[in-house]
Amino acid sequence: MTRSSYELTYRGKSPEKAVLSTPALPLHLVKALRGPAGWRNILISGDNLNALASLLEMKKKGRLSSADGSPGAKLVYIDPPFSTNLEFRGKEKQKAYKDKVLGAEYIEFLRRRLILMRELLSPDGSIFVHLDWKKAHYIKAVMDEVFGEENFLNDIIWSYGGRGAKAVAGQFSRNHDIILWYRKGGRHTFNQLSFERAFTKKESGFKQDEQGRWFKTSPRGDYTDESIRALEKEGRVYRTRNGTVRIKYFLREERDLLFESKLVGDVWDDIPDAMHLSAAEKTGYPTQKPESLLARVILAASNPGDLVLDAFAGAGTTLAVAEKLGRRWAGVDSGALAVHTIEKRLLSIKDSRRIGKPSKRHGKACSPFEVFSVCPESGDCACGGGRGHDVKCRYSIDDSTGECVVRIERFRSLGSQGADDAGLDALSSVALDMDFNGHVLHMDSYHTKEELEKNGFEFRFPLEKVKGGVMLVFSDIYGNEKWFSGELA
Ligand SMILES: C[S@@+](CC[C@H](N)C(=O)[O-])C[C@H]1O[C@@H](n2cnc3c(N)ncnc32)[C@H](O)[C@@H]1O
Repeated sequence: MTRSSYELTYRGKSPEKAVLSTPALPLHLVKALRGPAGWRNILISGDNLNALASLLEMKKKGRLSSADGSPGAKLVYIDPPFSTNLEFRGKEKQKAYKDKVLGAEYIEFLRRRLILMRELLSPDGSIFVHLDWKKAHYIKAVMDEVFGEENFLNDIIWSYGGRGAKAVAGQFSRNHDIILWYRKGGRHTFNQLSFERAFTKKESGFKQDEQGRWFKTSPRGDYTDESIRALEKEGRVYRTRNGTVRIKYFLREERDLLFESKLVGDVWDDIPDAMHLSAAEKTGYPTQKPESLLARVILAASNPGDLVLDAFAGAGTTLAVAEKLGRRWAGVDSGALAVHTIEKRLLSIKDSRRIGKPSKRHGKACSPFEVFSVCPESGDCACGGGRGHDVKCRYSIDDSTGECVVRIERFRSLGSQGADDAGLDALSSVALDMDFNGHVLHMDSYHTKEELEKNGFEFRFPLEKVKGGVMLVFSDIYGNEKWFSGELA
């Protein structure tokens, strides 16, 4: 890294050495998905400063790597708070997170984490930092210091489309975010991507050749006469009326549409904002980003089996897309609602390894992951126990099937503000461990509220699988949990 001749100074800036000695708090394993031995994806609940230090320890011990053995993360994507001084809530008005770190404190908040993330990257890794128009330029200066100006790859403009609300009087409407992309050093993973733009045949202005194939043309550029002769044989040369040679590019055709393939540049204006997400993709978490945006980042800067890290995971978009694209993943978030949303989202992936494409292979579960907590002992976090709910279940045995039947008769969430909340409406999921070891919930089954509702708030499990203690974890829509044990054997 070359040393800059200028430096960003502000109140409270700590020496890099001090940042690098951030204590790595122990990671408490809270929940695990059963599965074959080997790599487990990682979800950490708690402040990401200590979590990143803990992940760094794992990297040093060789326990954090991509499938090809390269240490640490191949790709980091973060979408941190933008210092808006706002408080964000979920669609049921649940508290999500406060974005109240301002001024120099905000710059230092992010800088410390960026230093630790740089250390977590593998030698050919890179980092995407998603920001808005107000803070991106400060953080660009920070990233030049942390990563080196020579490692700056792109400032990507995500132009997400017009939204009336952003049209401010006296200003141009604000319709983009900025994503800064830096590599750790030397070389980095990059896959050139293309995307398709659709045109109706009538309005496209494209031409058709004598065989009926639609095409567009562009100037011959650097093509030699020899190359032109070769292209001519393939029917790829077009001559204008005055004889100028142009190169033909054939277009994909589907019914009355033509699709033009274009290389992805640094302005991404083909991905609409989260307001346009399908109902299936919407989690109800505020500031959720589209899966198609994350798919572009992940496909461009990583390969299958690579480790992708998001330390401000929110609704878990990065993690869900990494999962669907066959990458390893690690995520951190300090909010109970975020951690619960991520768990539910990942556990509801029925058809992983694919994104945005129809598939016939339904029913594939997500790969195993583990949920850890880095909260200090006395902290208020999302780990086992938490703030309880009032739950009443009726248990019975179905002799004909040998199953234990659990019917949830009453559920009263204590809610995020401690106030009683509306019964079963506030239930979000139930997880079950049929052989609880007294510490960690090894999930044998997971039932979303939507699935439970269809079955009259009843679920079943085979009695023969019960080895001793049964643990049920009831989560409410705020991300609070009630761990509920029972001896059924
Ligand atoms: C803008 S949201 C991320 C949204 C995410 N990209 C998505 O698609 O859902 C920022 C997230 O950072 C989390 N966060 C803020 N400060 C944090 C900290 N110090 N440690 C861990 N997570 C933090 C918030 O809880 C919030 O979920």
